[in-house]
Amino acid sequence: MQPSMSVDFCGVRFKNPVVTASGTFGFGREYAAFYDLSELGGICIKGITPKKRLGNPPPRIAETPMGILNSVGLQNPGVDAFLRDELPFLKQFDTRIIANISGNTVSEYCEMAEKLSDSDVDLIEMNISCPNVKAGGMAFGTSPTMVSEVVSETRKHAGKPVVVKLSPNVADIAEIAVAAEGAGADALSLINTILAMRIDIRTRRPILHQNLGGLSGPAIFPVALRMVYQVKRAVKIPLIGMGGIRTGEDAVEMMLAGASLVAVGTASFSEPTAPLLVRDGIEGYLAADGIGGVGELCGAVEEYRD
Ligand SMILES: Cc1cc2nc3c(=O)[nH]c(=O)nc-3n(C[C@H](O)[C@H](O)[C@H](O)COP(=O)(O)O)c2cc1C
Repeated sequence: MQPSMSVDFCGVRFKNPVVTASGTFGFGREYAAFYDLSELGGICIKGITPKKRLGNPPPRIAETPMGILNSVGLQNPGVDAFLRDELPFLKQFDTRIIANISGNTVSEYCEMAEKLSDSDVDLIEMNISCPNVKAGGMAFGTSPTMVSEVVSETRKHAGKPVVVKLSPNVADIAEIAVAAEGAGADALSLINTILAMRIDIRTRRPILHQNLGGLSGPAIFPVALRMVYQVKRAVKIPLIGMGGIRTGEDAVEMMLAGASLVAVGTASFSEPTAPLLVRDGIEGYLAADGIGGVGELCGAVEEYRD
């Protein structure tokens, strides 16, 4: 018998557990040339902001073994242009749409949550790794108090399930996860990129114009797995696991640690069909082990307890 690949996530049915990670899939147009996007469980769009942003000056991508650093700086057309020009394209496909939002203030998150709630997106993902201008540029996602405030206010303005995306650049990710859950998050996604750096030894200049950037790709997988495992033990709401997933085996590991859905990001840059390979790999694992449904993997790691 074919294993069941569908997942009910916050009351939304995903045909399979594989979604794209924000910022690595644009608004889907480039990848639609490679395969039918209806094959995906879901598409998470590039992070959008209230107004158009041009992003940071180049260079904004640096390669590193088994990963990349980026400092794209949220280049995007703004929420209104997304709703007008990009969402109708995405809605041609039979897949779930997750809108990723970033704001500099609590009210910016609320404003976008309201606009998106009147649209056809299925879920709203809050990227809280952006600077809180009012609190002096400190990232929203690094303080439990700020997380509580921004999530509880945004929740009031959202008519769709709210997924809070956690930053790994904190001492205790479980503490942030608990704050987000307590403030009304319907789900959590993790991890965003890990703060990192490269230097060109000939020029002695950082490779990225922003000096620092975010590390993603297979290099961060064990860190992401550890954080999903820790967060799963701290909260009851479901998780989207991401960070370095490249193969079906990686995705199965992430689900055993506690993820209900998995997101594939950087892997799509070197292999555009990576999300489909991951999906097929999960299905093959379930079939080989006679497991009836993908949901049985969630949090099923058998820990050592001695
Ligand atoms: C070029 C690039 C742009 C990204 N842009 C966003 C973004 O706009 N919003 C967001 O929440 N995460 C963004 N991310 C983070 C990814 O969604 C993901 O959390 C991270 O890359 C880890 O997954 P991966 O190793 O599979 O890429 C971006 C990552 C990359 C590489």
